[in-house]
Order: sequence, then C-alpha cells, then structure tokens
Amino acid sequence: MGENVIIPVYSKEGFKLLSDIWLKQEWNQLHWQSFSWFGFQIWQFPEDLLRLQEVIATLAPDVIVETGVNRGGSAIFFASLCRLLGKGRVVSIDIQIPAEVRKAIEQSPFSDLITLIEGDSASPEVVSQVSGKIGKDEKVFVFLDSDHSKDHVLRELNAYSDLVSPGSYIVATDGVMQSLTDTPYGRKEWLEDNPAAAARQFAGSHPEFKIERPAALFGDQYIVEGMTYWPDAWLYRMPLAEGN
Ligand SMILES: C[S@@+](CC[C@H](N)C(=O)[O-])C[C@H]1O[C@@H](n2cnc3c(N)ncnc32)[C@H](O)[C@@H]1O
Repeated sequence: MGENVIIPVYSKEGFKLLSDIWLKQEWNQLHWQSFSWFGFQIWQFPEDLLRLQEVIATLAPDVIVETGVNRGGSAIFFASLCRLLGKGRVVSIDIQIPAEVRKAIEQSPFSDLITLIEGDSASPEVVSQVSGKIGKDEKVFVFLDSDHSKDHVLRELNAYSDLVSPGSYIVATDGVMQSLTDTPYGRKEWLEDNPAAAARQFAGSHPEFKIERPAALFGDQYIVEGMTYWPDAWLYRMPLAEGN
C-alpha cells in the first residue's frame, strides 16, 4: 500500500498537482476547442498563446512558418501580431486547406500577410516552396502544429530547422499528449509517440539547438511547469558564438 501524503492546496506543489489534473480535464472536455482569434477558431490552450505572443513581440521575426492551418486561427494570430509590430509575414502549410477556410483568410484584414501552401509539410516539395519564400538573412521563427506523431514531427524538425535563425525558435507543439495517456480520449502509445519525444531526440543530435522554455517577461518565478500543451517544445537555436 502506498503512503498517504498530505499536500497543502495553497502551496506550489498543490498548484502543480491541481494544474496537472485540471489540464487533463480541460483537454478531455475539449474546452481548448472553444477559442477563437479575430473570428477564426484556434485550437490552442490560451496560456500558451499569451506566452507565444511574448516571444513573437520580443523576437519580431521577418517570417513565421507554421505547419497546421486547420480553421486558420493560428495563421491569423501570427499575422495580427505582425500587423501590430509593423513587421513580419506568415507562411502557413496544411495538407488540406478547405475552400471556406482559404476564402475566409483571403477576405480577412490580414490576407496580405499570409501565404497558404497546401501539401504534406514534411515533403521536399513543400519544404522547398517554403524556403523559396524566405530571403537571405531574414529572421525566421517556425511553429509545428500539424501531424503530432513523433515520426512526422521529427521529419518536420529535420526539414525546417535549417531555416530557423540563430536566436530564434522552432516549436514542436502538443507534447502534452505524453501526459494524457490515462484520460478517456487519450491513447497509451502517446507515452512515446508524441512531439516532445521528437524534440528531445532532435535536440540530442543537434547541439546548435537546446530545449528551453522562453522565460516569461514578468513573474517567471510564479510559473508552474507543466501548465502548457507544449512541454519540451521550444527548441532554441543558439547564437553563433554559443553553439553553432
Ligand atoms: C492541430 S490542427 C492545427 C491547429 C492550428 N494551428 C490552430 O492553432 O488552430 C492540425 C492540422 O494539421 C494538418 N495536418 C495533418 N497532417 C499534416 C501534414 N502531414 N502536413 C501538413 N498538415 C497536416 C491537419 O489537416 C490539421 O488542419
């Protein structure tokens, strides 16, 4: 029999425990499908979006490459930040872009900032199309949110990591799958087969990258690790002097 442990609710440990349980519940109840950005459905955990905004606002990339358009929310999210920054554009890839999603993006106030590419994000044809849209010396940020199998994410990491500028990131989203295996909608194989596992494997053989969650601009000491869909997701490309 295991020992009973009392964890005070109002402690950091209590916060972590409740957060872990809440995150599983939130995911399983599909609460994350209830959000939108500028009228476009966005499949993200809101806390992650606020953190992502901090990074984009700080980094001010010239080009944001994202895989996984779905209903267009993340493309519009990135493009709206580019508009506010007065800088940057978005290249968004999906294996299938429904006509109504394409039309809605084209009719949005951000259409001039978004290039849509249809095809398998890890295919050489698509990667070469994306590369052709990036100028020499442009600052590039890459966000991977398509097929979340470990194999596919590894293929994407290998295909897109060269495009990432030193000092910028490639983000392999949704490693939270590794913690959802015991939930009603979760799958046992996700323990190994998930984007975080791909990111860890990739970092192990690419010393120019390290897994490092960007520090919050304020109150980083209050962050509870794990309150995210993106554990071990942020692959930071070190500036030349550090590792490249
Ligand atoms: C999780 S959704 C993307 C959510 C979107 N980024 C957002 O924030 O709202 C995943 C998308 O990846 C696309 N997808 C799946 N496999 C793909 C592949 N091999 N290449 C490109 N896109 C793929 C799916 O069609 C789906 O639209």
